[in-house]
Amino acid sequence: MAETIVPVPAQWAATAHVDAAAYARLHAQSLADPQAFWAREAGIIDWIRPPSVADASNFNADGFGISWFADGQLNVAANCLDRHLATRANQPAIIWEGDDPGDSRVLSYADLHALTCRIANVLKAQGVRPGDRVILYLPMIPEAAAAMLACARIGAIHAVVFGGFSPEALAGRIQDCGAKIVITADEGLRAGKHVPLKANVDQALEHCPDVAHVLVVRRTGGAVAMQAGRDLYLDELLPRVAATCPPEVMEAESPLFILYTSGSTGKPKGVLHTSGGYLVWAAMTHHYVFDHRPGEVYWCTADIGWVTGHSYGVYGPLANGATSLMFEGVPSHPDHGRFWQIVEKWRVATLYSAPTAIRALMREGEDWVKAHDLSSLRLLGSVGEPINPEAWDWYHRFVGGRRCPIVDTWWQTENGGALITPLPGATALKPGSASLPMFGVEPVLVDGEGRILDGAAQGNLCLARSWPGQMRGIWGEPARFFDAYFSTFPGLYFTGDGCRRDEDGYHWITGRVDDVINVSGHRMGSAEVESALVAHPLVAEAAVVGVAHDLKGQGIYAYVILNAGEEASEALRRELIAWVRREIGPIATPDAIHFAPGLPKTRSGKIMRRILRKIAENDTASLGDTSTLADPTVVEALIDTRPVPA
Ligand code: WT7
Repeated sequence: MAETIVPVPAQWAATAHVDAAAYARLHAQSLADPQAFWAREAGIIDWIRPPSVADASNFNADGFGISWFADGQLNVAANCLDRHLATRANQPAIIWEGDDPGDSRVLSYADLHALTCRIANVLKAQGVRPGDRVILYLPMIPEAAAAMLACARIGAIHAVVFGGFSPEALAGRIQDCGAKIVITADEGLRAGKHVPLKANVDQALEHCPDVAHVLVVRRTGGAVAMQAGRDLYLDELLPRVAATCPPEVMEAESPLFILYTSGSTGKPKGVLHTSGGYLVWAAMTHHYVFDHRPGEVYWCTADIGWVTGHSYGVYGPLANGATSLMFEGVPSHPDHGRFWQIVEKWRVATLYSAPTAIRALMREGEDWVKAHDLSSLRLLGSVGEPINPEAWDWYHRFVGGRRCPIVDTWWQTENGGALITPLPGATALKPGSASLPMFGVEPVLVDGEGRILDGAAQGNLCLARSWPGQMRGIWGEPARFFDAYFSTFPGLYFTGDGCRRDEDGYHWITGRVDDVINVSGHRMGSAEVESALVAHPLVAEAAVVGVAHDLKGQGIYAYVILNAGEEASEALRRELIAWVRREIGPIATPDAIHFAPGLPKTRSGKIMRRILRKIAENDTASLGDTSTLADPTVVEALIDTRPVPA
């Protein structure tokens, strides 16, 4: 079958910020003369002291480090708020749509500025100083964005923990970054269900003696325990402080936030982003990729607990003076038309969502879409995992009415913003391909030995040079940064993804080549799920792999070896699933538990995951070479004990 190519609509080519010729010229310049390119593009944000240098990064062991715009000074919150007050104080900055369709709030730039300043003043009054870490464990409410900006305003470092994470996972993150203050809400609200955020914080804090203060946003008004001297309701403090707060003068390389993400080994990594480069990257990519126009309503559906919510829900759009829609609920509540009802209600122009959500909505049929007027849409986006052509077609046809380009943006928590992506006025689309590199981005494909592959090829996706939004380190573990990303292929940043590049230079991400599982566009480390499982008293050993899943992209398949004498049972299967959910959170829910007699190990004791993946996928005809196994009979035993799919 011939490959589908969807050309750039003529209207887009004529009016977009960048057309095909401009893309080629700007991308070439960004690589040939980066100093000149970045001196210009850095002007997308306001600097207190403009930088005289751009990239000073080095990917090699000798002199390793990432640095951008080093002598520049700025304040990120002032860029997202104050600089818009002269021209758009009354324009909506955040349109908030509650879980209940009857519930909404609109915050103008002036409103968001005042709320941010008040939270900043409360934080200061609680003793928060520049460089201190602040944990945010919040639902999707405007206070979440304001709390992020409040930290940025006073130079504190926020670490947002997704509200779906368990008390255990929250405690680990609080301990890792050494936060002394947590901002949470009494409860979250999702599909009408109350999420016990404050109660989760209380449990987490049993293991975090250094946390001195908990600020609680009253969201549902549900009854929660308030510990005297430690816990305070934010709404009682806000009126007592000033509605203005001078923004702290920050260095370009001052830390802005930490965001935890799963790696292929060990515990989650605290990905550290800094101020100047991150904001330039978030703002610049938001401007070009979404071809942002003032006055339009822009909606990124990601939770602020993920990096997409940071860069494209808060920092990028607000730096550009956009109107960012924030949705508290889920796509299926009160019915499967919720997304489309929101697009119609707020006349959304740009919708940026994820393949897993699109597949779930597609399954419910297009009548839900057709029931709403989606004529306001002009651009669609996708992120999180490769989008399968069926979902792409459905999104393009029924949601975008065949007139809206789809920007399939490939990037990672570590990257700060989109690295490989179409630009809507410049790039002909191939469904399923993230297409071409953003300005300043130099992707290379290397084989297993690190040889750079030319032309059409498939290999390990690396980046040959730094870009402003690149992470600067792993919180508290300086050596792990280099080891995790720069040691596999010397001189290159290794993404952990496989990729095919076609004859037109388009990139097709083939998925992770490491032990990271992509569940609904979110990263889960096999090692994390394994350590949750072995923490159960009856479990001796566990090995976890990803398997193809219709809705989630990948599901979690867990091999479990019980302690000698223990019996597998349906009750234990359920118990282990509940156990993992409690240890990490619902995102880590195993889809299958395979009570296994043993694991395929090499003579040196290394688990051969390749074989585990094949058995999990029920693809046992092509197991490959099993001769190096310490005990080759384990393979047959594993095939015989496969659980019957539910
Ligand atoms: C991994 C990063 C930052 C986006 C949210 C996920 C996969 C992400 C795409 C895409 C194919 C994609 C990659 C990447 N991924 N976007 N458009 N096409 N794959 O962030 O949790 O840091 O995960 O998600 O495998 O490495 P993350």
